[in-house]
Amino acid sequence: MKILVTGGAGYIGSHTCIELIAAGHDVVVVDNLCNASEEALKRVGAICGQDIDFIEADIRDFNALDEVFSNHAVDAVIHFAGLKAVGESTRIPLAYYDNNVNGSRVLLSVMEKHKVNTLVFSSSATVYGDPASVPIREDFPLSATNPYGQTKLVVEQMCRETVAANPDLSIVLLRYFNPVGAHASGQIGEDPKGIPNNLMPFIAQVAVGKREYLSVFGDDYNTPDGTGVRDYIHVVDLAQGHVAAIEKSHGKAGCHTYNLGTGQGYSVLDMVKAFAQASGKEIPYKIVARRPGDIGQCYADPTLAKENLNWAAKKSLQEMVEDTWRWQSNNPQGYSS
Ligand code: NAD
Ligand code: WQD
Repeated sequence: MKILVTGGAGYIGSHTCIELIAAGHDVVVVDNLCNASEEALKRVGAICGQDIDFIEADIRDFNALDEVFSNHAVDAVIHFAGLKAVGESTRIPLAYYDNNVNGSRVLLSVMEKHKVNTLVFSSSATVYGDPASVPIREDFPLSATNPYGQTKLVVEQMCRETVAANPDLSIVLLRYFNPVGAHASGQIGEDPKGIPNNLMPFIAQVAVGKREYLSVFGDDYNTPDGTGVRDYIHVVDLAQGHVAAIEKSHGKAGCHTYNLGTGQGYSVLDMVKAFAQASGKEIPYKIVARRPGDIGQCYADPTLAKENLNWAAKKSLQEMVEDTWRWQSNNPQGYSS
């Protein structure tokens, strides 16, 4: 299949391009590079032994997308493009609605015009809000505690309604838990701008000496060691989940939702310990107050994806931290190293 990957220069998108090409698909990437570097795609090309077809464009630009679909015989779309920082979304909510909701609306309109009927969308476990229990199943109640999460809820709903109105359409909503890790080559990985919001890149920057210590946000949660528990999933497993989703859904109409997680929770201190072991570096940390909006624990029931997509995460915590460390230590300044 020829697959358009929006946001394909970003963290998850770049890893997914590699897995798509390895599975025999052709890839064309659209990205406006607002949170990515073209260098990532150059490295994806080097890993895959072929240049990546890349168009620098904004998904909110109908005419630019129209041209992409006119020039490429696209069979299916994987849609990563969007803004993803929870804290930032509370400061500039309109930018989040414009990018994430309006961008997805424009993409769906252009797909409709060109009769492209298969879409995989990046949703998030954030749509479960603060779950009443764990592990979390896809039929749990949905809620959002911030504008970012709300944009994911709106786009999910827009997808369900668009499928209801168009019986030829096939959309898969993938709710990711906490993506971490990097390609085993150490050539591509997560390259956050400024101070990382997420735990793993923050720990990695402490290990490499870019930051002095990790602030652990609270040790009084109702969890085994009191720190927050999450379902960390290796980005390569996640990327393979997209290949499974697009291959299973192409040509089969309907809207389906899957958790992509491992089903295993680890605490903040588990992550610190595993990273220290893999890197041989001390990770100094200080316990500080809870981060507003954080929840105690969040991990997936990944059964549905196993049953329907024949996909399950395979990589261990050790591989997650070792691969992150290889990427971070080879590229202390990310893609600008
Ligand atoms: P990322 O920022 O690395 O990738 C997103 C890419 O989209 C970037 O390359 C960015 O330049 C591009 N982009 C943003 N707005 C665009 C626009 N209007 N037009 C064209 N390109 C645009 O983020 P990621 O971690 O790879 O996340 C990918 C998707 O997965 C996002 O939709 C995110 O919300 C979702 N997601 C991420 C996580 C996570 O923790 N990383 C968890 C759940 C869901
Ligand atoms: C993990 C754990 C923190 C940083 C966020 C989004 C979610 C999704 C994934 C996109 C928590 C603790 C963190 C630090 C810490 N993204 N922590 N010190 O909050 O589970 O999810 O990213 O969809 O929507 O909300 O991930 O990596 O920020 O935090 O102690 O400096 O690490 O409190 O327990 P989170 P995270």
